[in-house]
Amino acid sequence: MQTTVARACSVRVVVDLRSDTVTKPTRAMLAAMASAEVGDEQYREDPTVNELQRRMAELLGHEAALFLPTATMSNQVALRAQTRPGSVVLAEERTHILIYEWGGPAIHSGLVMRGVVADAGRPTPEQIDADEDLGAGGVVVLENTHRSSGGRVWPLDEFAAAAAAAHARGAAVHLDGARLFNASVAAGVAPAEWARLADSVTICFTKGLGCPVGALLAGSEQLIERAWEGKFLLGGAMRQAGVLAAAALHALDHHVERLADDHLRAGRLAQGLAEAGVPVDVATVETNFVPIPERAGALERLEREGVLLDGLRPGFLRAVTHLDVSDDDVEQAIEAIPAALEADRRVRA
Ligand SMILES: Cc1ncc(COP(=O)(O)O)c(C=O)c1O
Repeated sequence: MQTTVARACSVRVVVDLRSDTVTKPTRAMLAAMASAEVGDEQYREDPTVNELQRRMAELLGHEAALFLPTATMSNQVALRAQTRPGSVVLAEERTHILIYEWGGPAIHSGLVMRGVVADAGRPTPEQIDADEDLGAGGVVVLENTHRSSGGRVWPLDEFAAAAAAAHARGAAVHLDGARLFNASVAAGVAPAEWARLADSVTICFTKGLGCPVGALLAGSEQLIERAWEGKFLLGGAMRQAGVLAAAALHALDHHVERLADDHLRAGRLAQGLAEAGVPVDVATVETNFVPIPERAGALERLEREGVLLDGLRPGFLRAVTHLDVSDDDVEQAIEAIPAALEADRRVRA
């Protein structure tokens, strides 16, 4: 831990493209938080939390919603609320639920975790249908946007076909929509269009939406009552959480449409890198992630230049645009990244 702190202090951070989670709350968001009306959330008496839950349920086309501290907890509570121990959770092999939640589906819900290899993070109806153990008590997880494929968006018809295949097997469908607003803005499709095809939906407020804390689960009244149990079980029941919900409400009003700016900047970054000889697949940059083929030592060389990237999946780094990344930052990254990757500039011709 000390090493991390010391390193962070010695580096002049020019542009931080590691993740869209590194944003700091804006002054306007802090003001909204400071003036939030609050109550005890566990008594369901926090008016700001209640308002966020009401508004999000409506926006996602579900009966009810539950505010939670993190998207990980929301995913885990959702799985627990609609599965039976010993059942299967099926997902694309590099979904967040399968690889970044510390075995949570097995630990919290006793689920058998099954990953399938799928293009752009999108399991097909055939793949879902082929799982012989998937049935009532099981769940299929669909992630939109899909993190590890580089923020790819599920076309609505493909998503509908996958969800229908899961339902035909008697399994539930959970949408990990941590970045569903990115998908919505990129595709020009309302979040509810995807969300209402799933039985449960996770939304995260701390990614592109720029909040310091908070996620939300939407589903039927019955599912959300079960989810309350999971929220208490995992220690996620809070008190005057309205100060956090106020940030989320502010983000819904001010930080959704502007996601288009992040997507434009990611596109510009991808294009600039490709022109400088970095083998970036510009056509697959659909939202705010730019996947960049990894070179040994590149992260460290970039850090010395004050440009921070992170890992995306084996063999790939990611540059992620967000609320705190400007046009100038993107241009600086376009200068620094090719050199650190030792890109072959002859490709430019
Ligand atoms: C697709 C996806 N789902 C869930 C999460 C978990 O979010 P949190 O850090 O709020 O637990 C992440 C985090 O990056 C994510 O990318």
